[in-house]
Amino acid sequence: MSVGIDEISFYTSNYFLDLKTLAQVQGTDPDKYYTGIGQEKMGMAAPDEDVVTMAANAALPLVEGEGRDQVRTLMFATETGIDQSKAAGIYVHRLLGLNDNCRVVEMKQACYSATAALQMACALVARKPDSKVLVIASDIARYDLDTPGEATQGCGAVAMMISANPRLVSIDPEVGNYTEDVMDFWRPNYRSTALVDGKYSTKIYLKALKKAWDHFREVSPLDFSDFSHFCYHLPFSRMAQKAHQQLVRHTKAGLSAEEQERQINKTLMYNRTIGNSYTASMYIGLTSLLENTDADLSGKRIGFFSYGSGCVGEFFSGTVVPGYRDALHLQRHRDMLAARQEISHDEYLQLYRNQIPDDGGEHRFDEGTTGHFRLAGISHHKREYVPR
Ligand code: CAA
Repeated sequence: MSVGIDEISFYTSNYFLDLKTLAQVQGTDPDKYYTGIGQEKMGMAAPDEDVVTMAANAALPLVEGEGRDQVRTLMFATETGIDQSKAAGIYVHRLLGLNDNCRVVEMKQACYSATAALQMACALVARKPDSKVLVIASDIARYDLDTPGEATQGCGAVAMMISANPRLVSIDPEVGNYTEDVMDFWRPNYRSTALVDGKYSTKIYLKALKKAWDHFREVSPLDFSDFSHFCYHLPFSRMAQKAHQQLVRHTKAGLSAEEQERQINKTLMYNRTIGNSYTASMYIGLTSLLENTDADLSGKRIGFFSYGSGCVGEFFSGTVVPGYRDALHLQRHRDMLAARQEISHDEYLQLYRNQIPDDGGEHRFDEGTTGHFRLAGISHHKREYVPR
């Protein structure tokens, strides 16, 4: 019996800022963003959306058909938590109409936690093969204005149904891990934007990749040549290109630049126009690979490198299942991305400065999202989520 990803669906806001607009206002060459960091647009959350509404919007297509009642666990991975105590997934559980006997838990380790959720979900399904686990990753990436991180913001959520005999990607049990206590990127509870030592963070990312790969080689019979494609954590597209170059060097794989590019370029397409979605980003990259590769990927092995600052790195592997195309939500994703609305720099600043009031009063939020669920307001410190 194999265990893995049976279905995958993502969501991002209907607003985006083109990085050419940001470059123009900053007096920066737009190619620094388009080429230097490999990003074109970044998603900006509407005033009436947060990680809960994005998560519910991502997961809705997975529970509309059969199978809703088989979901025994919902794991919600985020580093944009809205409450220190209550799991954000409990709101999602209600919005999606999941059954009362489904457990819900929230997970955190920067951009890595969706991978922890995926691995734990696979273990749960292996114990009870007739059950399903819904893994959702949802994040809003925010840095201070006028910092190097500003151009690498974004927002998005991804939902994955984990089951036995999955239709998309079976996940192998062997994983390579690396953990080290470092301060490359973090967000103390009293801050709404991340603190980051940018250049250092990219170095630690690459170090964690090497270490996780070396550990993976100790525990798995697979070598570099067994993989046809690689999905990396995507804080920005160039990071994946640098990571892959390093892995090719490290493994002495001797691939041409074109061959290296072929192994990752389709994973980057959605991220270039959504921006960083932290823990959701690698799995939006996987969706991008599956939905945008013309060649049949059936039976192909994919290598995954998940990275969460602080830091935890994990290398693992999966195999694309024959017939996978029938289980994709390709048209829905393309329509959603095509329908997004470009915003001006002033509108971007308005959305950026938008804060959830913390005075305990009664507040209604302007309608902005075109998703199925919205955050209608907050009253007595209680967020009110409704279908739109
Ligand atoms: N045309 C083409 N390329 C240009 C250019 C131009 N006009 N101007 C600059 N570039 C190139 C530079 O040469 C550079 O390329 P290399 O990296 O290949 O040398 C690239 O554009 C970036 O330029 P800078 O090095 O000057 O960029 P910066 O210092 O302004 O910012 C950054 C880069 C530090 C990554 C910054 O974007 C940042 O802090 N980002 C947030 C942190 C981050 O994403 N870290 C990633 C690892 S941590 C992680 O992965 C977790 C997470 O999600 C945050």
